[in-house]
Amino acid sequence: MKACIAGIGSYAPARVMTNADLERMVATSDEWIRERTGIRERRIAAAGEACSDLAVQAGKRALTAAGLAATDLDMILVATCTGDYPLPATACLVQHQLGATKAAACDLSAACCGFVYALSVADAYVRTGMRHVLVIGSEVMSAITDWTDRNTCVLFGDGAGAVVVSAHDGERGILSTHLRSDGALCELIMVPGGGSRTPPSEKVISERLQYIKMKGNETFKVAVRTLEEIARSTLAANHLRLEDIDLYVPHQANIRILKAVMERLGLPIEKVMLNVDRYGNTSAASIPIALDEAVREGRIKNGSLVMLGAFGAGLTWASAVIRW
Ligand code: UT7
Repeated sequence: MKACIAGIGSYAPARVMTNADLERMVATSDEWIRERTGIRERRIAAAGEACSDLAVQAGKRALTAAGLAATDLDMILVATCTGDYPLPATACLVQHQLGATKAAACDLSAACCGFVYALSVADAYVRTGMRHVLVIGSEVMSAITDWTDRNTCVLFGDGAGAVVVSAHDGERGILSTHLRSDGALCELIMVPGGGSRTPPSEKVISERLQYIKMKGNETFKVAVRTLEEIARSTLAANHLRLEDIDLYVPHQANIRILKAVMERLGLPIEKVMLNVDRYGNTSAASIPIALDEAVREGRIKNGSLVMLGAFGAGLTWASAVIRW
């Protein structure tokens, strides 16, 4: 028995924030943002719109695409670093909103790799007896973004993407997943305040420690190296050549990172799904949003061989190969 993607869906908040909007907030320019990141605009959640609200919309669309009811679900996994509350898990709020009365629910924290990590968990559960697992990557990055810090505020966006992972007897399915981490690099991307090490306080607020801090340049170099390495080891583990892959769907963080990876691998741009220009970096939501768009654009069809590649805070990096 394999675990296959039975349905996919995504949701992006209505509000579009352009680079021109950011020019009015911090000392930046549309030209700098486009040249250094490839981002033109990003979606921003409305006031009061939280992680679970986005996740529910994406989850409903994935269930519809799979032709399933919420009551068919055995489990809901929400990959996020911007959950509605520190406690309880956002997945429980989603479970209730969807009416998934038979489903277990928990969150998975692996930052931008969260979706691929959660996909691997769903894969393992489905291959050992569960029938249907809903995997959602959902982020309201705008809530942990310091809108006075030009180094980070131009990069991130909000959104959600979801897949239903179902038991399937046949060729289609998740062929392998590969998960890595290196906590020695934990300070490259971090929200330093608000957790148990530095609980919320006036000091946390005044020093803006509740917001994401990033050493962009160092992260950039590690991202290129790890994405290349994991793509090569994933292909080798599956006895595949790069030419066998129909579409590479990477985490959408920065067009320059992805172009460097494509160059090192010798991967033509036609085989890479890119939508960072319209969403920015949506962390755990970025791969499922890109996958959903690729399916809707006809770039992924039944039988396509798809490779995912992600990296993010932790540091973590991850990949998967799927026969769609
Ligand atoms: O999901 C994983 C999360 N992280 C990432 O993927 C991020 C990886 N890193 C990056 O994408 C890039 O490092 C950035 C886009 C963040 C920055 O690009 P860079 O080419 O590495 O620039 P830099 O950090 O070396 O900064 C170059 C200059 C600096 O000015 P000085 O010191 O040379 O005078 C910055 O202060 O650009 C300046 N700068 C800006 N200028 C205009 C930084 N942010 C901005 C900005 N607008 N928004």
